[in-house]
Amino acid sequence: MTRIGVVTSGGDAPGMNATIRAVTRVAHSEGLEVLGFERGWDGLLTNTFRMLTPRNVGGILHLGGTILRTSRSPEFRTVEGVQKAAETLALNNVDGLVVVGGDGSLRGALELSKMSDALIVGIPTTIDNDIFGTDETVGFDSAVNTAIVEIDKIRDTANSHDRVFIVEVMGKKRGFLALTIGLTVGAEVILVPEVEYSLKKIVGTLEENDAKGKKSGIIVAAEGIGDTHKLLREIEEKAGVEVRLSVTGYAQRGGNPTARSRLLANLFGKKAVELLLNEQGNRMVALQEGKVTSIDLKEVCSNEKQLDLSLMKLAQTLAT
Ligand code: F6P
Repeated sequence: MTRIGVVTSGGDAPGMNATIRAVTRVAHSEGLEVLGFERGWDGLLTNTFRMLTPRNVGGILHLGGTILRTSRSPEFRTVEGVQKAAETLALNNVDGLVVVGGDGSLRGALELSKMSDALIVGIPTTIDNDIFGTDETVGFDSAVNTAIVEIDKIRDTANSHDRVFIVEVMGKKRGFLALTIGLTVGAEVILVPEVEYSLKKIVGTLEENDAKGKKSGIIVAAEGIGDTHKLLREIEEKAGVEVRLSVTGYAQRGGNPTARSRLLANLFGKKAVELLLNEQGNRMVALQEGKVTSIDLKEVCSNEKQLDLSLMKLAQTLAT
């Protein structure tokens, strides 16, 4: 192992830069050269990269986004695309590749590992925290904190106006972000795609709260539950209360990574390089029960991470 590559792919997440820095600096300390492929998988399709050195990854630890930039590459989803990427790795004598990204990127990494002689290691980096085999992904904590800051402010105006707010958060088709955000802001209602919501139940909760003297409320809804504008109209109609909608949106993807996201980036970056040095490819770095470990990429891609629904119950108990 003398040359490795690093690529950030799919939706960006706070901590991607910290990950690039950690991989580069640990790799260099072990005498490895590092190529940073640009614009996600597109960089491997067009052979576009820059050499990363301990110096030129300086000053990026605290920055959101990714200095290598990213993309969602339709061409890489084809067999020809993956083949082309494998050829790029061979052409540049890349012995190992670190893929930094979420579920689509890790699936891509698995496909590439079937066609390339280079060893492939994934680092789970997505705000969605929806990757099987790891308790947490780089970027999740930052996105949660971004939403919390916003919702705490919304709580002030909700209280002043006796209003109910629906706050729509990201998470694609999963509710990991919504559940953690809902629990940590004391949301009166949390809606996740994993549990079909009942309008009757939502209205019932709001009415019970009203009777207890709680005139305002926060409903944290995952984007994956469907049309939140429609939900707003339905709640207004049935509960007879004023409802507003606030979409946290892409702000959750940006901003400075939290300490937690930086720490994970550092630990995961180090582990990824260690795996490559130990000739262990086809794996994803993971956090399991507080320990940094690794798991077979195939296992990651063929299983679905489960949402801890007991936390929904706890959130309900705490929001009385
Ligand atoms: O996977 C991260 C994420 O931000 C999701 O939460 C969201 O559904 C999706 O990416 C948005 O994707 P795009 O950047 O393609 O609009």
